[in-house]
Formats: sequence, C-alpha cells, structure tokens
Amino acid sequence: MTPAPATTQNDVAARDDVAWWRRAAVYQVYVRSFRDTDGDGVGDMAGIVEKLPYLRDLGVDAVWVNPFYPNGGRDGGYDVSDHCDVDPRLGTLEDAERVIERAHELGLRVIYDVVPNHVSWEHPWFIEALAAGPGEPARDRFHFREGSGPDGAEPPNNWRSFFGGPAWTRVGESRWWYLHLFDEGQPDLNWEHPEVLERFDDVLRFWLDRGVDGFRVDVAHSIAKHPEWKDLEPGQDALEVGAEEHPYLDRDELHDIARRWRRVLDEYDDRMMVAEAYVHRTRRPLYVRPDEYHQAFNFEFLSVGWDADALGEMIPTVTAAAHEVDSTPTWVLSNHDQVRHTTRLGLPPDVNAKEWLLDGPHEALDAKLGLRRARAMALVMFALPGSAYVYQGEELGLPEVWDLPPSALRDPTWRRSGGTEKGRDGCRVPLPWEADAPNFGFGGEPWLPQPPRFRGRAADVQAGDPASVLELYRVALELRDRWCIEDEQVDLLDLPNGVVGFARGSGLRCIINMGDEPFTLPDGEVLLHSAGPAHTDGADLAPGDAVWLA
Ligand code: GLC
Repeated sequence: MTPAPATTQNDVAARDDVAWWRRAAVYQVYVRSFRDTDGDGVGDMAGIVEKLPYLRDLGVDAVWVNPFYPNGGRDGGYDVSDHCDVDPRLGTLEDAERVIERAHELGLRVIYDVVPNHVSWEHPWFIEALAAGPGEPARDRFHFREGSGPDGAEPPNNWRSFFGGPAWTRVGESRWWYLHLFDEGQPDLNWEHPEVLERFDDVLRFWLDRGVDGFRVDVAHSIAKHPEWKDLEPGQDALEVGAEEHPYLDRDELHDIARRWRRVLDEYDDRMMVAEAYVHRTRRPLYVRPDEYHQAFNFEFLSVGWDADALGEMIPTVTAAAHEVDSTPTWVLSNHDQVRHTTRLGLPPDVNAKEWLLDGPHEALDAKLGLRRARAMALVMFALPGSAYVYQGEELGLPEVWDLPPSALRDPTWRRSGGTEKGRDGCRVPLPWEADAPNFGFGGEPWLPQPPRFRGRAADVQAGDPASVLELYRVALELRDRWCIEDEQVDLLDLPNGVVGFARGSGLRCIINMGDEPFTLPDGEVLLHSAGPAHTDGADLAPGDAVWLA
C-alpha cells in the first residue's frame, strides 16, 4: 500500500520554530460544568486550577476556557457585563490569573474566550443607552432602530435571532427597538462605533498583559451588519450563509476588525486568536489570512458524520485551503453548542441530532455504535496536521444527556423557540470525576443533573484501563507528539470504498473503516494505536474501527 501523490505540500513546518498554535491539542473547558470547588453546584476557576495536572497528564498543549466574566445569566456566560473581571460565582480576577500562571508552570497554554458581537443588557453601556433615550449618543454603541408599522410596533426588519424569534426587542412602548442576534439579554454592539473598537483593544490588552496565550473569538462571522439593516431576501436563510450577500453573516467589513485585533496581538510574542466562524468553506480561508485570525474552527469535521466519501474529500481540501494562507487546519468533533458526537454518531444518518433530542425516536440511538465510532474519529482527528480541539468530557466518551427534564433546561434556545428546540444543555452536564463520590466528584449538587449512567464514565474508573476512552486519548496524544506534528503534510491513501486513510510525513498512517466490510490491513506495518480491540499485523480492520500504523 503506497500513498497516492501528495495532496498537500507544505514547507512551513520546515521552520525550526513552529508556532505552538499550528499543531496544538486544545482542551475546551466549559467552566460551569468542569469542577466545582466551593460546593455551590457551579464549576469555578479554582476547579480549573485544581484539574490542570489532569490536563497535563492527558497530554494536551493548551486549554481554552469558555467565558467566565460577570454576566447577565442569560446564555451560559456569553452575555458579558464586564470583560475585565470574573463572575463572582466562578471566582475572582486573581483566580483567572492563577489559571494562566499554573497552566504555564505545567507547560500548558491558555486561551480565553472573547465575545465581541454583543454584551449583556446588564453591561453599563446598555443601561446607559436605555436611560439616555432615543437619538442620544449613548445609543449609538448599539443598533437601535425605529420599528415599522403605524406606531413602530413591528420590528424594524425581518432579521431572526439564532435562538428563535425576531432579532429585535422593543424598548417599552416606544417606537424604538434594539438588535440582538441572540437572546434579548444580548444586545449587539455597533462595530462602526470608535469607542467599541477602542474598548475591545483594551480588553484584549488587559488579558494579554496577564499572560493569556490566545483568544477564541465568539461569533466572528456576525460582527458586521448591513449599513442600512437591509431585509433578508425572500427565501434567504436567516441563520446560514448562502450565495447571496447576507445582511449580518460573513460580511466583508468584519475583516478590518479582525486585522485591527491582529495588530494588537502582534504587539506581544507568540499569541493567537481562533475564530468561531460558521461560514462556507470557500470563505473560511479569508478569516485566516496572514494579517487576520491565526486559525478558524473547521466545523465541517463535526458535520461530516460517518461518511467516508465526505471525510476523504474534506481532509485534503480543508488542509490545502488553510495552508494556502499560511494557517493550519483545525479539527472539532464536539463543543458546548453541539450534540455530543458519541451520541450523534450513534444515530441513523437521516436523523437530525438537534431535532432528535426532543422528537426522537429515542430508540433509534445505538449508543454502543456511537461510542465505537467516536473512538475511531478521535484517532483521525489526532493524526491530522493542524490543531485538534477537544471538548471536555469527550475524553471520557460522555454521551449527550438527551433526556434532561424540561424543568432543568437553561439554554435560552428552549425558551425562545417556544419549546420546539431542546437546546444545548445536554452537552453541558457537569463532568463525572469519581464514580463513588457525591455528584461524581464534580462538587455540590450540579446546576444540571447528572444521569446515573455517567457513573461508568467517571475519570477515576477509566484512568489506567487500557480499554477506556481516557486511555485511548492519552496514548494518542502521547504518540501524536512523536508522529503527527513534525510536518504539516497529509497524503490521502488510495483505499477501497468506505475506508479512508492518510499518511503523514513521519511515516504514520491512519486508517478508518467507515464501511460495512472488514478491511484487511497491509502486511509489514507496525501497529501504533488502535481505536478498537488491539489489531495484529495483517489482521482485519472491522467496520467502525481505526488504527495508526507505521
Ligand atoms: C457562540 C457560542 C454560543 C453562544 C453564542 C452567543 O456561538 O459558542 O454558546 O450562545 O455564541 O454568544
């Protein structure tokens, strides 16, 4: 079995000093659900400090922490009321500094989450804007518009909130409305306002001065709005970019803002920013041009599902597109907004996982199959060039908690969709650390209830068990350092239908069997790692399994 001709040639990695972010394994901490040290049922910054050695032992290079700032409690911390402090429920500013300091002591980098598109309605600017009244300059930092209809009683235009319903909320009985692409408690900032631009430079510097290594930039694709708030065209998707110019998604103007932030980061050594940009694949490279973001999340990996053709097409295309602008690709299987992939991959291909949460049929889930496929996909992710983003709990093989009772749900999607979308709480349930401790060692009674089935997935029962997901991840991350990062090349192998494989410059080959038939592995290669039961030389790779060979 020989590699097909190179699909991606890249000499960037020949440099001695490859920037850390180009090939980092980054662990995402959803702080409220990670580890609660003060017993209030909500994870905290001290919990991160406590568990940093666990992350070092797992073998990741960096930690991305979801927002921990003071907030209005409307969207899991994404409604920030002060960008330069810590939510008192989660700790203090010193704790946020301690996370950076302790991580650095352990050789880990830290990425904090910045949320530029909107603030909380409890942010002093928004309070000031409401108090100031129509036409006052304090309102210009936001998007206030007069409503349509005789008394201005209808929204100014037809834009939709990502969480359901109109993207506008009326100010009392007045003619004035404000824009919020998310919850009504998250008014959108006006990024044409100089004070908004200047304030964010300061926010970045505030954390850069404290030693943070990078930023994950929230909804980087929505920051710029059409200057005249143009209506969505009939048939234009409110929430997804299509061929038409979109009035609030993926607009060209937002690249100037990214360049400005990049200049701030470039005042410091070795810092990075990664964009959450839900855009068409042909547009993603624009975000990672040399003077913009360093990286952008590649959500195609997450949505490719269990489809060999799609995976085989996507890997070289996405990699080449990133390399063309001197970035590296990123690989994401799960995050705090998505149905956990262990569950997603156990659903029939025609089932929409988000709808399935509520509508079922729940017996369609094959949890065992999902877990098996999730293990295989993890090996693919870690073998690829670029950065792998791991969402907390995926290293434990946690499933989505799809059966949370409606009374427990906290995601604004549930409320704003009028109970037609269950939302994202099922992937945010607090982690099980210890099988036999109260609340599985998370801390106090968790803000989202943990199901009994989490017990078998607790970190302490998996540690040291070679068959566990935790050990699969740990060993993969250890081998990754030796086999998967020395260059950025990936060569697709010519394999039968349903089987995808690629070779790395080191000689590592990763093969995943997404078909229905066993695939006979080539002779004479050394088995480095295996997602399923250990394979021996010349053995069959069963459907649902993946291996690393050399
Ligand atoms: C991003 C976050 C999501 C949040 C939204 C609004 O998509 O990942 O959790 O709800 O932005 O800030």
